[in-house]
Amino acid sequence: MDFADVLKVRRMVRDYRPDPVPPDVLRRIVKVVHRAPSAGFSQGHRLIVVTDPAVRRRISDLYDPAYKGADIQGWIGKAPVLIAVCVREESYHERYTQPDKLDDDGNEIEWPVPYWWFDSGSLLVLLQLAAANEGLATGFFGPHEEGLREILELPDDIGLSGMLTLGYAGDKGSRAAELKKRQLPLEDLVEWR
Ligand SMILES: Cc1cc2nc3c(=O)[nH]c(=O)nc-3n(C[C@H](O)[C@H](O)[C@H](O)COP(=O)(O)O)c2cc1C
Repeated sequence: MDFADVLKVRRMVRDYRPDPVPPDVLRRIVKVVHRAPSAGFSQGHRLIVVTDPAVRRRISDLYDPAYKGADIQGWIGKAPVLIAVCVREESYHERYTQPDKLDDDGNEIEWPVPYWWFDSGSLLVLLQLAAANEGLATGFFGPHEEGLREILELPDDIGLSGMLTLGYAGDKGSRAAELKKRQLPLEDLVEWR
């Protein structure tokens, strides 16, 4: 696909057809983890790909179907693939205590922002673009529900940025027109100096 078209179709999609995603396509999408930037090449990205219907069901059941009228449980439950976008913070500390990354006093840097979360956002967007390029749709939901970590069997050293939904888009109306109306002008977002 042309990059401009990939960008155009990258939206958070909240309706999916039940069709499974072919394993080779899924593998191509998650392979972008190898192309995702990470501070100091710390490579703290971790992904958990969930296709097992029983596990997906347990995850969607965590969410209140009536939450803010968004039927979050409905669209999470429909997506044939859920990907936990995770991060191992310790990988950054390990990397930034190597000699070439120490500050002038020989200590680990004061982190200007927690780059592990920053990098996770970059990976999320790459996954969305890779999926769009394969004709697939993605969405994202926060990791706030209690019990999610247990279902994913996350070890203590793995942080959870959130969950990507992946599948072929359903035909429930897109929010693109509504969002367009609320879109801030470029001048509010970009300053030229
Ligand atoms: C960090 C982050 C968290 C988000 N959390 C949710 C969420 O929990 N539920 C949801 O429906 N959408 C969520 N979204 C999607 C945003 O609402 C969406 O990106 C925004 O409205 C712009 O729409 P678009 O991505 O389709 O252009 C999240 C997006 C980001 C980047």
